[in-house]
Amino acid sequence: MSNLLNRLKADAEAVEKALTAYLSRENERYPVLFDAMRYGVLGGGKRVRPFLAIEVCRMLGGKTEDVMPYACALEHIHSYSLVHDDMPCMDNDVLRRGKPTMHVKYGEANALLCGDALLTKAFEIATENENADPKIQSRAVKSIADLSGAFGMIGGQMLDLASEGKNISPEDMRYLHSLKTGALIKCACRLGIIASGCTDEGITADIDEYARCIGITFQIIDDILDKTGDEATFGKSIGSDEKQNKTTYLSFMSVEEAYSEADKLTKKAVAAIEKYENSEVLTEFAAWLYARKK
Ligand code: IPE
Ligand code: IPE
Ligand code: MG
Ligand code: MG
Ligand code: MG
Repeated sequence: MSNLLNRLKADAEAVEKALTAYLSRENERYPVLFDAMRYGVLGGGKRVRPFLAIEVCRMLGGKTEDVMPYACALEHIHSYSLVHDDMPCMDNDVLRRGKPTMHVKYGEANALLCGDALLTKAFEIATENENADPKIQSRAVKSIADLSGAFGMIGGQMLDLASEGKNISPEDMRYLHSLKTGALIKCACRLGIIASGCTDEGITADIDEYARCIGITFQIIDDILDKTGDEATFGKSIGSDEKQNKTTYLSFMSVEEAYSEADKLTKKAVAAIEKYENSEVLTEFAAWLYARKK
């Protein structure tokens, strides 16, 4: 196995273990909420955002244990965003990670509350890191709040819904992607920088550029796989975007053209960070994201 595949596997296992521990506490009077939270987070995700947080931190000389609480907090935000994204009032999807979506399994009201609980829990996790330097802690929490909120992922989700059935320009499409998907990917990389203790503006700008490019690529590939993927591998219903009248890259370009756009962005991502020592895992990861089938 290549170094990248080894790291992907090892990091995902460490993240799964940490997430399982965070999700073990429950109130026995309403166990269904805790079952639902575990259903929404554990078992199945690729753990792309925690991987980025851990590997950026490592590249900058930081320790995995210092970034792990932030990586897990962000994965809670990501998981809640998927629960709400799948609901009938949004994308109305029934399959996620090869299993029924949250509202299909637990009902709409429970899915709504479970998403709310996961979002709130993210901040509990990010702030209970007792060993963290308070300055680092507050920068990490602010970054999670900024990039997952109205000026980040939620802003992108608003634009996504507002664009259904509309013709938007490629530039507006890129902007939409940079928020709805790019913001949490940028946040993952920022958390790695912050937890490592690095405050260098030049390094932050280079890693932001890497994150910007892989963030847009990530959604382009998601849109391509939504049309051309294999349901069993992708774990989500194929053709969902078309059914929901979504505006995606494929609304104004062919699959080949979209791949070529993603390829250019992947090369830009690599160029932004390859000068750094120990950047191979992240540069290989950009190529892995481009080639992914799930
Ligand atoms: C899905 O994200 C939502 C998008 C931003 C396209 P992932 O593809 O990272 O989902 P999981 O966590 O691996 O299931
Ligand atoms: C959603 O993008 C990204 C989120 C913020 C959840 P999609 O709606 O394309 O994600 P999938 O395809 O349902 O995972
Ligand atoms: Mg959506
Ligand atoms: Mg969706
Ligand atoms: Mg999609």
